[in-house]
Amino acid sequence: MTRLLFPLLLVAAAISVEAAESKTDVAQAIQGTPEIDGKIDDAWKKAPAVHVNKPITDLLAIDPKEIATAAVQFMYDDEHLYALWIVKDSALSADSSDDWAQDSVELVLDKNHQGSTFYEDEDAQYRVNFEGKLSGQGAGYDAGDLKAATVKTDIGYIVEMAIRIDNTELKTGAKLGLELQVNDDHDSGSRDAIAKWHHTEDDSWEDTSNFGTLELK
Ligand code: BGC
Ligand code: CA
Repeated sequence: MTRLLFPLLLVAAAISVEAAESKTDVAQAIQGTPEIDGKIDDAWKKAPAVHVNKPITDLLAIDPKEIATAAVQFMYDDEHLYALWIVKDSALSADSSDDWAQDSVELVLDKNHQGSTFYEDEDAQYRVNFEGKLSGQGAGYDAGDLKAATVKTDIGYIVEMAIRIDNTELKTGAKLGLELQVNDDHDSGSRDAIAKWHHTEDDSWEDTSNFGTLELK
């Protein structure tokens, strides 16, 4: 009995490790059209969350236990991708003159899912700071495509984003390349930490080859 049970346990352990790993590779968006007001509509309750909590070790200036992190959920309709970010950040700052060094969230999209090592025409970086200031970069970034609402909370802030997408069909089964990032100015007036969802280097703004996948359900 024990002789049989042991290999079975090993197989079960291997399967559960694989399931845990694949969770950080794939995020899912459900159909829906939320109001972009920073309030959490009921529709969000059905959208699965992914966690943006892996520090970029090379750039870490504070205790990893103190870095800003986020849980993110997604919805989509014919024209937009929506993301709801619940950010945990104990000290909010927009002191830096660089948008990417202020307390902010970033969603980067490889809309044709090519995984290129440079930004193709449709690849774009969308950023929103905790005060609702919008910014972005990349060949596919058009400021008119991004809308957001932010609300401060006891634990940090909420960002609700709408990204207009007109060069990729948003339909069930479609897959896009995705990375998520939280920038954290803890107390220095510059960036003290970056937390990411998938890849743990600061390269997502120029290289889409290490993105995870967003599946439209
Ligand atoms: C990166 C910065 C980079 C900026 C460019 C951010 O996501 O973390 O290092 O300079 O994007 O837009
Ligand atoms: Ca902060």
